[in-house]
Parts: sequence; structure tokens; C-alpha cells
Amino acid sequence: MDLFEQVRQVMLEVEAYNIKQAQDLENFRLAFIAKKGKIPALMDAIKSIAPEERKKFGMEVNKLKQIAEEKFREKQAYFESQIVAPESSLDLTLPHIPDTLANAHPLSIVRNRIVQIFEHMGFKQSEGPEIEDDFHNFTGLNFPENHPAREMQDTFFIEKNPDIALRTHTSSVQIRVMSTHQPPMRTFSIGRVFRNEAISARAHCIFHQIEGFFIDENVGFVDLKQTLYHFVKEMFGKDTQIRFRPSYFPFTEPSAEIDISCLICKGKGCNVCKYSGWVEIGGAGMIDPNVFINCGIDPEKYTGFAFGMGLERITMLKYQIKDLRLFTENDVRFLKQFEGIV
Ligand code: DAH
Repeated sequence: MDLFEQVRQVMLEVEAYNIKQAQDLENFRLAFIAKKGKIPALMDAIKSIAPEERKKFGMEVNKLKQIAEEKFREKQAYFESQIVAPESSLDLTLPHIPDTLANAHPLSIVRNRIVQIFEHMGFKQSEGPEIEDDFHNFTGLNFPENHPAREMQDTFFIEKNPDIALRTHTSSVQIRVMSTHQPPMRTFSIGRVFRNEAISARAHCIFHQIEGFFIDENVGFVDLKQTLYHFVKEMFGKDTQIRFRPSYFPFTEPSAEIDISCLICKGKGCNVCKYSGWVEIGGAGMIDPNVFINCGIDPEKYTGFAFGMGLERITMLKYQIKDLRLFTENDVRFLKQFEGIV
């Protein structure tokens, strides 16, 4: 067979070669294109062609080469596009992880519970402003003229003479309600209070108090005790003990501090209760007749009790939180622990 005939023959073979899979492609390459394949052999053979026919032969072999290479590239591209990505753990068909809704802050959880307990006992919620004048924060509450709590180190004053300040306690709401209503009254209030104190694990310059009072004819200390007894059992559980320690507040007489048995050691003694078995949650007492007079309520006819407690303190005891600063740092690792509680 002459060389021109061979070129035509190889052209037919190239066109007819059936490349179905990657291995066929490699066989095709080896048979025609690779160094020892048929096309380079034909190109080599140009030497044995008569000089006047070399140009024609060269053109034909080149055409053959181009067609073979074109077929190879086309099939190669096709097989590459068919390559499946290696297996990975990423499964795009899985449903997405649902976004979690924010959960209630522990202070809100405990606040909601407190509202529930006092509302069940017939107390109505009332409110007062966070910026107060001297009368509602101090004078109306029977604070003597030069009581240390009025001094700059405790109170954030906004204006002096007449004094305007951030309220230092929610007892100001007592004055707000008493000076605008007549007994019988049974109300409570929860809100932010402010004191000029250094921030530490146990103290903050912004915190919350729960204030409550009940005024009617013949209200006695026993009513105060029963109310707080019920509150403590509801809030902390039936086994929790409560005790009253004699104390002093300008706006109550007699006055008491309220302790509950330590929830952590159950009264046995630990570092939270400073080995006393008891922890303080607030103050209380019978409303001083001077406060009634300041608010236009007849002290001969009415008596009443009042109490004030710390929301942070109650929350720390309930959930055994050791550092007050956690409430305001917004660390999700802390906050997430209260997921699902309302
Ligand atoms: N206002 C007091 C305080 O901030 C707490 C308190 C004590 C409130 C006795 C009262 C009360 O209503 O009767 O320390």
C-alpha cells in the first residue's frame, strides 16, 4: 500500500474509532497520536517520499493529525466534565439548620414569675419614673434631712436645688401611688434603680427592685409575714424557710430584713451564705405613720405593710449564679442556658 493510501486508511480508522470511555480515549491516543502511534510514523515516512510529492503528503498527514487531535480533545473535555466531585460530608440536600429565636433573659424569667405570684395574691402592678425628685425618693419616705443616702456617694444626681436624681430604690413608687390614691391599696412594682457603686461580682450601679405594699384598715405584721412566706415558697420551693430580722428603714416601723434559708447548702452553711445558712433578699416593715401623713392618708384609720427586694439577688439564688456582672455582659454561653424557660 503506498503512503498516500496509508494516510487515507488511517483517516478512516480515526473517524471510525469508537471512544466510549476514558480507557478508549487513552487507547486512541496510543494508537494514533502518541510517539509510537500511527500518525507520527506516517510523518516520519515523509523522508521516503519523492521530493515533488512531499508537500502534498505533508499537507495530508497534517490534516490527519489535526482531525485525530481534535477528536481526542473533544472526547477528553467530555470525560472531564463527567467527573463526579469526590464524596464529602457536605450534603446540599439536607434541610437547613433552623435559626434559633432569642430566649428570655434570666432576669425577665424571674420577673415574670414574680408578677404571676403577686397578681395571684391580688396585687396590681404599678409603675413610677426612673428619674425622681427629692420628695418621691427621699422626703416623702421620711428620710431625715441629712440622711447619708442623700449624699453624692450613693445617689446619681441630675440636678441640685431642687434635687432631681435617678431613683435609688423603687420605694419612690409607694409615694407616687399613695399620694394619688386612697386605701384600700394592694400594689407592687418592678423596675430599675441606680446607685453610685463600684461594679463587682456582688454590686452594680444599675439593678432592679420589687416593691410592694398593702394598705387597709387593720393590716398587721402577720399579713406581711404571710404574704412574703407565700411568695418565698412559690418562688424557691416549699422547703425554703423564711425569717425576719429586726432592722431600720426611715419609712417603716417596725422594720425587718427578710432572709431565706440558703438554697445551695439547704441551711447547713456554705460560702454563698457565709456559713450562716441564711441569705438576705430584701427589707420590709409596717409603713411609718409619717409616710401616710406625707401622702394625705389618715394614719389613725389605716395601717399597711411594705416590702422591697432585689431582683438580681433573687435570680442569683434561684439559678445559683455567682457573678452579678453576667446579667449585663450578654455572653450567649450564659444566656443560652435559659433557653426554653419563660
Ligand atoms: N428601699 C429599701 C432599699 O432599697 C428596701 C425596702 C425596705 C423597701 C423596707 C420597703 C421596705 O418597702 O418596707 O434598701
